[in-house]
Amino acid sequence: MTYKVDNIAEIKTYLKELKKYSPYDFCEYSDSSIYRRINKVLEDHRLSLDELMDKTRSDSLFVEDIVQEITVNTTEFFRDPEIWRDLYTGYFPSLKNKKELNVWHAGCSSGQEVYSNNILLNELGLLEKSNIVATDLNSKMLKAAKKGEYNHRYNHKIIDNFNSVINGNAFADKVRFDKYFEFSGDNDIIRVKKILKSCVDFRRHDLVKGDISSFQKFDIIFCRNVLIYFNTNLQTRILKYFHDHLTNGGMLILGNHEGLTGFFKTKFIKNGPVFIKTNAFHFQY
Ligand SMILES: C[S@@+](CC[C@H](N)C(=O)[O-])C[C@H]1O[C@@H](n2cnc3c(N)ncnc32)[C@H](O)[C@@H]1O
Repeated sequence: MTYKVDNIAEIKTYLKELKKYSPYDFCEYSDSSIYRRINKVLEDHRLSLDELMDKTRSDSLFVEDIVQEITVNTTEFFRDPEIWRDLYTGYFPSLKNKKELNVWHAGCSSGQEVYSNNILLNELGLLEKSNIVATDLNSKMLKAAKKGEYNHRYNHKIIDNFNSVINGNAFADKVRFDKYFEFSGDNDIIRVKKILKSCVDFRRHDLVKGDISSFQKFDIIFCRNVLIYFNTNLQTRILKYFHDHLTNGGMLILGNHEGLTGFFKTKFIKNGPVFIKTNAFHFQY
C-alpha cells in the first residue's frame, strides 16, 4: 500500500489545518520541499492524509514530533569550506576594530555552523567581544546544538574541513583540532569544548513569525540553507526582517544556492559570499 499524496492542493489543505491546531505555519514553504516532506511523514508513519489530519487535530504531542520531521536539518562543520576560508581570511579580519560584535545564526540546526564560526572568531581574537544568538524552529535540533556532542561517523569531514579552513592559509600558525574538540567513546563522539559553547544563547525562534527579541542590531546574520525551503513571499519578508535587524554595513551570509529576491538586490552589496547592508534604505510600506 502507498501512502503518497500526489495533489499539492490536498497538502495545502492539510497545512492550513496544521496551522489551526498548532503554532506552526508551513503554508509559505516552497511547494516542492513541503510536498516531499509531507509525503515522507505519511510514508514513515504509514498514514493516509485523512489519518494525518485526524491525528493533527487530536494529538498535540504527535504534532510536535511530525514538525521535527517536516524541517530539513542537514548541516555539517565548515559546510562549504571555501566560504569559511574567505570569511576567515578576507572578511572577518575587518571586524577587529569593533568594540563588540552581535551575531545571529537563524536556522542553526544542530549547531555545527555556530561552532564553526566561533572557531573563526576565536582565532581572530573576536570571540570574547561577541554576543551570539542561535535560533531554530526545531527544538530537538536546538537541544543537540546546546549539547555540542556529535557522532564522528556522521561528521566525518570535520577534521579535513577544519584543517582546510583554519590551517589552509600560509599566514596561519598551525592550530590543533584538540584546541576546540575532544573525542570520547572510542573516538566515536566528538565533543565541542566549553570555550565554543558558553558564549552562545540558543533559542527557539520561528522565522515565519519574525520578531526576535534581541539586544541590539546584528553585525552578522547567518541564514544558510534555510530560505531555499521557503516560497518567494516568505523569503522577501524574512530578507526585509534581516535588513531591519542589521547594522549599516552589517553582513548577511546565505547558503551557496541562495540569493536575494528582486527588491533586495539593491539594498545589499554582494561581496564574495557576503551580502553587505547598504546605508541608505527606507522601506516603503
Ligand atoms: C538545512 S538546515 C541548515 C542548517 C545550517 N544553517 C547550515 O547551513 O548548515 C535548515 C534549518 O532551518 C530550520 N528551519 C526551518 N524552518 C524554520 C523556521 N520557520 N524558523 C526557524 N528555523 C527554521 C530547520 O529546522 C533546520 O534546522
